[in-house]
Order: sequence, then C-alpha cells, then structure tokens
Amino acid sequence: MIDYKKELAGLLNSEAVGAEDFVPTQDPAFGDYCLPCFKLAKTLRNSPVRIAEELARTLVLPEWVAKAEAVNGYLNFTLDVTGYVRDVAETFADGVALPAIGAGKTICIDYSSVNIAKPFHMGHLPSTAIGGSLVRIFRALGYRVVGINHLGDYGTQFGKLIVSFKRNGTLEGVKAGGVKELQRLYVLYPEMEEKDPSVLDEARAWSLRIEKGDPEAVELFETFKRITLEEVGRIYEMLGIEFDSYLGESYFARRVEPIVEELESKHLLCESEGARVVPLDAFDMPPCLILRSDGASLYATRDIAAAKYRKETYGFDKCLYVVAYQQNLHFKQFFKVIELMGYDWAKDLEHIAFGMVGIDGGNFSSRKGNVVYLSDVLDRAIERAAEIMREKSERLADPDRTARSVGVGAVLFSALSSAKIKDTTFSLDKVLSFEGETGPYLQYTHARCASVLRKAGAVPAPTAYRGVGDESSRALAAAIAKLPDAVTDAAEKREPCLIAKQLVSIASAFNKFYFDNKILTDDEATTASRLMLVRAAKNALRFGLGLILVDAIEEM
Ligand code: ARG
Repeated sequence: MIDYKKELAGLLNSEAVGAEDFVPTQDPAFGDYCLPCFKLAKTLRNSPVRIAEELARTLVLPEWVAKAEAVNGYLNFTLDVTGYVRDVAETFADGVALPAIGAGKTICIDYSSVNIAKPFHMGHLPSTAIGGSLVRIFRALGYRVVGINHLGDYGTQFGKLIVSFKRNGTLEGVKAGGVKELQRLYVLYPEMEEKDPSVLDEARAWSLRIEKGDPEAVELFETFKRITLEEVGRIYEMLGIEFDSYLGESYFARRVEPIVEELESKHLLCESEGARVVPLDAFDMPPCLILRSDGASLYATRDIAAAKYRKETYGFDKCLYVVAYQQNLHFKQFFKVIELMGYDWAKDLEHIAFGMVGIDGGNFSSRKGNVVYLSDVLDRAIERAAEIMREKSERLADPDRTARSVGVGAVLFSALSSAKIKDTTFSLDKVLSFEGETGPYLQYTHARCASVLRKAGAVPAPTAYRGVGDESSRALAAAIAKLPDAVTDAAEKREPCLIAKQLVSIASAFNKFYFDNKILTDDEATTASRLMLVRAAKNALRFGLGLILVDAIEEM
C-alpha cells in the first residue's frame, strides 16, 4: 500500500510537518486523513484556522488527492477514490502481508491445559479458542510460537479414581465409556468415603503408588490419561489446533526439588503450620504455598518449575497463560515468587484472563453437576448446520465437510468475537444464525466472494480502473486496508476479537458493495476493476478467518 501519511507530508514539503502528524479520520465526511494545524501555529506564527485555510488554498494537489479542505484548524484530505481502491485491490491481490514484528522472538502460549479424567467442557472453550487463535496470530507476525498444554495429570484425585474404579468399574467399561465413564466413577467416590472413611487411606496409597512407579498403578493411570487425550485429541483436530508440548503437572512434580532448594537458599521460604510457604504480605497477597506438610508439591510449585523449564528450554521473550480469571491470584502469586527469586524474566510472564461462558439451556440437558461437554456442543452445532444447509443450499460438493466447517466455526467464532474478559452466554441458535456477527455470516460472505469469482472465470486485471469510485467501493477498500493493523493490535492486546470485529466490518462493507454494484457488467474495465476488489475482500476474509480458527469455505 502507498504510505499516504508519508506522501502527504512530502506534498506539504515543510520542515514543521512529518508523516506522523497526519491522522486517519473515522468519519468519511472529513476525508481520509487530517492534519491538525495547532502544533504549527507556533512555528508559523499564525492561527491554526488561518494556517489550514492558507494551505487548502495554495496546495497543488496530485491526482491521488481529490480535495484538501480546511475545517476549524484542521486540514482534511480526501483521497481520489478510484486510485485508493486500486491501491488496496492490488495490495491484497495475492493475500495479506503483515509486518514481521516477531522475527527472532519466541513466545510460549500455555492454553487449553486440560485435566486428565475430567470432562472437557464448555468452560474450556475460551482458553482453547483464544489460545489457539493467539498461536496463529503470533505465528503470522513472524514469532516462533510454542503452544503448550500444561496437563492437569497430578494429584490425589487419581488415587480416589482408582479406588472407585476397583469397586465400581471395569477396564472394558472405561474403554467403551471414555471420560464420561471416568467421571461417573469419580463422582461415586465421595459417597464411598462417607460410608467407610478407610477408603481415603486406600486412595492415598494409590496416589503414592502412582508417584513411586508401581506398575499396576502407573498402568491404570496411563490408561486414564490415554483415554482422555484421545478424546480431547479428536476435539483439537476438529478445532484445527495443535500443541508443541504436553508436558504437564506430573512431569514438573518430579522436578520441584531444585526449586525448593533454590527458594531455601534465597531465604524466601517460611514454615507455616507444617507447610512451606513464600510469604507475600508485603505485596498484599496471601502466602504462596510451596510444599504441603506431607512434603507434596502444590499447583504453584509445579508452575514455578514449569516456567523455569520453559525459559531454559525455549528462551522465550514472552510466556502467556490463557486461563480463566478465577486463577488471577494464583498467577500473581507465582509470578511474584519468580521475581523474588531474582529472575528479571518474571516481567515476561503474562496471565491472559478471560470470562466465563454460561449456557443458554434449551438444547443441552444439564447432567449431574451441570457439565456441558464441548464435544456435545460441537456435535449439535454440526447437526444443526447440516439441517440449515439442507434448507438453504441446493447442492454442495461436500455437504458433510461444509456442515462441519460451519458448525465448528460458529462455536469458535462465538468464543472469539467479544472482548475476552466478558462473561458470555452461549446459545446455539444465535451462533448459527446467518445474520449478525456470527461465524456463518462471515463464511457465507466469503463463499459469496468465491462464487462471484467462479462465475466470472478468468478476467485479466484491469489496466485502468473504472466503476469503483462510489462510496461503497471506497468503504469496502477502507475496511480491507485496516485488517493488518487489526492483526497487530490483536496481538499487542492479546485480543483476537479485534480481528473478528474487523472481519465483520469487511463482510458488511462487502455485502453493501455487492448490493449497490453489479459486478459482471458490459464494460470490461468496470467488471475487471470490481472483480479485483472482490478478490481483495476474499483474500482478507480468508486470511482473517484463519487467524480466528474458522474455515474459509468456497461454497455454502
Ligand atoms: N489445568 C488447569 C485448570 O483446568 C489449568 C492450567 C493452566 N496452566 C497453568 N500453567 N497453570 O484449571
């Protein structure tokens, strides 16, 4: 793209004005860029109003500027629409180029981080979607990204699960029933302990046996782990998500000793009711628990070990943790402990918090404990998408695949389209609507672009642009042009919804353009010019959808 600010500064050719002084305007009524003349008043010893007027009168405009107008001390520039549309269409003709701001930098992203033998439920959707999207966004900006699933595979709950499994379950049952069966067994445990308190000793013994490497205990645990990972693996595949590491809590539980020694030698540890803690009252926080009275590590201890491991292994510039805001305190505490240990990279650890998802009942029977499995939601979304498609589209080349893309895309988009800290309510009907800010709406618009281009066939790029000087062509070009900045903004703020919102703007602008303008006309140059703009819109939508994990489909 032409660097308009730079060109405008060149046009003014004054020591007192630089490219950075030009501001893009929000309202097209004030042109595309404006130059506030207040700063100039001093150097030029004149009032801003007079300066702006003087400039507007005397400037000789090149063909790419349609007009320069003085309004209350501002000089507003309106670009020539056809020239601008041409610039955007040609810039995005073969895809979207982003600045490689991440070149040479490494970023670790800890996200989704599931718990073994626990249901993968709707509460895990935000972390999975936001983290998965951030992985793609940072990669697109040239970062080396390490996606990490910090598995919850450690704790006394596994001893309890084995006890219940021994009394109430079978290997065949678990293999057939998967995580749902494991969950059923786990839920039976508290009642067992209530009836016979001695089962707690049994559970503890099993936990210990897992840790000590007893073959039977380890084999059972590994079976539960494999079953869980197979199930979430299927979901990750559906969502188009991959991880570079699955090292989780059990791995780091075996590596806390050097951490405890280090804390000890740095005089950070205190005794508290038999436990070992790092006091944090100086920072207005409760102490960070490091070792229980029985010597076992805690969640924070394992996270400290994991952070150090990541720094040593990957040499990250940033390490992000995409985890619900309920864990705010946990992250503040262990980040502080790492800082107190004297590691300056503590400042590079960042908790990316997000809100909760409520479910708008109806479609999902709430089972015991009110757990809604993500896999059930995805399956229902795909089924519904298939139904809708049967009504709307006559014949699709691959209806199953399309339904999958639309159903899954709808669910993902819902998790990525609002500011992450907001609590949201999920409704299947809403996310699958073809109107409004939804995944299907964006996919549909992309497919519409694809269909226009298919119908047109091979049309050579125009030598002269024509028929794209209207407001809806300009608005579409402007929406497309903003996508790269939306991506860098989304990365900086760790907020994929900024991309989602820009895509909605592009889609609405496209649909208005499509409504206002006939694309296949009798005039060759007009047709070719409009097709170039359609192609740019399609490229922008496809690229942006990819960054928020939604498939861009060719027909629907
Ligand atoms: N498994 C944890 C949970 O479900 C999330 C882990 C997040 N990552 C971390 N390094 N603590 O709550």
